[in-house]
Amino acid sequence: MKEKMEKFIAPSLKDARKRITKETAHFYYQMDKRFMGLGKGKTYHLKTYGCQGNLADSEKISGLLKWMGYEKTDNDENADLIIFNTCAIRENAENRVFGELGRIKNLKKKNPNLIMALCGCMAQEEKVVEAIKKKYPQVDLVFGTHNIHLLPEYLEECMNNKERIIEVYSIEGDIIEEVPVVRDHNRRAWVNIMYGCDEFCTYCIVPYTRGKERSRLPEDIIKEVEQLAKDGYIEVTLLGQNVNAYGKDFIDCQYSFANLLEQLQKTSIKRIRFTTSHPRDLDDETIMVMGQGGNIMPHLHLPVQSGSNRILKKMNRKYTKEEYLEKIEKLRKAVPGISITTDIIVAFPGETEEDFEETLDLVRKADFEGAYTFIFSPREGTPASKYEDNLPMSVKKERLLTLNKLINEGYAKGNKRFEGKIVEVLVEGFSEKNDKFLMGYTPNNKLVNFEGDTSLIGSLVNVKIEKAFSWHLRGKIVK
Ligand code: 5AD
Ligand code: SF4
Repeated sequence: MKEKMEKFIAPSLKDARKRITKETAHFYYQMDKRFMGLGKGKTYHLKTYGCQGNLADSEKISGLLKWMGYEKTDNDENADLIIFNTCAIRENAENRVFGELGRIKNLKKKNPNLIMALCGCMAQEEKVVEAIKKKYPQVDLVFGTHNIHLLPEYLEECMNNKERIIEVYSIEGDIIEEVPVVRDHNRRAWVNIMYGCDEFCTYCIVPYTRGKERSRLPEDIIKEVEQLAKDGYIEVTLLGQNVNAYGKDFIDCQYSFANLLEQLQKTSIKRIRFTTSHPRDLDDETIMVMGQGGNIMPHLHLPVQSGSNRILKKMNRKYTKEEYLEKIEKLRKAVPGISITTDIIVAFPGETEEDFEETLDLVRKADFEGAYTFIFSPREGTPASKYEDNLPMSVKKERLLTLNKLINEGYAKGNKRFEGKIVEVLVEGFSEKNDKFLMGYTPNNKLVNFEGDTSLIGSLVNVKIEKAFSWHLRGKIVK
């Protein structure tokens, strides 16, 4: 087969690990006129995997494509451009993408002009790019998390030269402001407050795929939130891999996450959420601001990962089980009735039965109202992928099952406490399972189903909870 590769900049995990303290450069995006109209009459299909960070990136990709004249389609069969925005956090997320790439191969036979692109965290991995280069000729374009804003250029080249482009940077990263967005919702918005991560938890690929921690300027964030409120948005979720480290990279000013939260509390946006928090960096000032309530919602997602101090140390989490429990005690005092959810990894290399028991003990003590639970998945290039891991899969699965049982009790208990109460719900649309019901979320992030008119979608309503189920609440609207 003739090699049609013209451009090839491959990722390097070794380079991606480097951190030098240079000040983050902030650029302001402007689209070159020659790209506008390039997508006219064409459609794109965008598939997003993974976390909210990827959802937010996809909204930027949609924004760029819209400015180019492309229209979105939900059907990949007749799209002119298919983009996979991928996740690298665990192996099964990656396998799903490879499966999809295989399926899409046939579409390419039907439509030779179809452009197939892959971006996101998987693009930042050496082994993925190698595999695509060798085994997936159907992929025309690979770009990483640092160069999303260059998509129009890449598409122009793909269209004109019919050449394959693989361009992935393994740099610390800059901040590109004012990239256009098309938001998926018209009442709820993601707002990036920072990018990257410098924590280097030993199991995690994110610091390699997303670059160094770099914060957006407070004025840019506040302006965006004010504008969203003016445009009718009710809720924002502030995004960062470790939002509590916000501002630590500012060289000439002292400005923290608590400062930002306090300023955003004064804006006219009705609901503020934020994710993800790191237990070590969650400070008293932030807890105090959360305690002032107002538009800050009484829910915190605080990943603990393990309840064993020995494992926490091997994970490089920099806190103990006792410190974690102390922190959530403080939170509960400052924000009465707060819902706390978490992430837990079972079967981290070397986890003994006693270590796992410590995790179960922590879950019992912490009163979590929900959790994402995972079996450890080795990620090439991370320290933990080299740790000895000799536990049979059957034991790993059993631990996950035992943990999930306990977590589910927490879900049910957390829902039950709202029976008979009146809660405010931001109505998002119809329930997926039963379109007789509307659905939305409460300040504590509880899913509520209730009967009501379509006209309520997008507004805040009061609902009296009649019955709590394991995964949702059911109620009736009250005036
Ligand atoms: N294996 C399993 N789970 C992981 N997570 C991150 N890296 C891994 C891994 N290698 C989980 C953590 C994190 C969540 C987003 O994904 O619990 O908080
Ligand atoms: Fe990964 Fe840890 Fe950073 Fe979260 S804080 S993204 S788990 S390295």
